[in-house]
Amino acid sequence: MSNEAASGYRVRLRHSHALSGTDRQVLQRFLYDAFAGDFDDSDFDHCLGGVHVFAEDDRGMVGHAAVVQRSLVAGDTVLRTGYVEAVAVAARMRRRGVGDAVMARVDDIVVRAHDLGALSASADGRPLYLRRGWEPWRGPLGVLTVDGMRPSPDDDQDSALILRTPSCADLDTGQRLTCDWRNGSDW
Ligand SMILES: CC(C)(COP(=O)(O)OP(=O)(O)OC[C@H]1O[C@@H](n2cnc3c(N)ncnc32)[C@H](O)[C@@H]1OP(=O)(O)O)[C@@H](O)C(=O)NCCC(=O)NCCS
Repeated sequence: MSNEAASGYRVRLRHSHALSGTDRQVLQRFLYDAFAGDFDDSDFDHCLGGVHVFAEDDRGMVGHAAVVQRSLVAGDTVLRTGYVEAVAVAARMRRRGVGDAVMARVDDIVVRAHDLGALSASADGRPLYLRRGWEPWRGPLGVLTVDGMRPSPDDDQDSALILRTPSCADLDTGQRLTCDWRNGSDW
């Protein structure tokens, strides 16, 4: 029996286009609660437009992550990036491997569909990602705005992690990494 089945939850994938208005409201409420209120409308906007990984049990949603496509540039190489957003597990189900099961699906999506994986880790999330092979980005970070490249602050630097795929096995993480511009937080 899989860990998921043994723990009484199942994991499934849905694209944002398949979510009804009610589904979106339920998801936003779930994320708001899981992040203890530290999750605003722009954070929710960032997790739309790609693939959602849901963990659910008989009482409802217990875990979530989303992979959205962004354009990141390492040095002068443009990388089709699977950017991971809104990773969260319901407080009642933490420390049972739900986060790991959700991230296993995320990693598979990134490796199959993208050149690179990237995310901005919270202190809670960081050990989970590092354990799964995600790496800190060592070089400077920036964002490509309409006025040109703007360096990212140290906080962003400290939380940026990447996942290599076979197409970037030799990627030098000491280079500058820039992301595309969006509303809310850059990373
Ligand atoms: C970060 C978060 C998603 C982790 O979810 P989770 O389901 O608790 O993650 P896991 O259970 O896979 O792993 C967490 C810990 O439980 C341990 N664990 C996993 N299965 C276990 C089990 N059956 N029994 C005991 N411990 C277990 C893991 O080894 C890990 O331990 P460690 O942190 O000491 O290394 C969750 O804490 C959360 O939602 N936090 C708030 C939102 C947030 O910060 N999200 C991350 C954004 S980047």
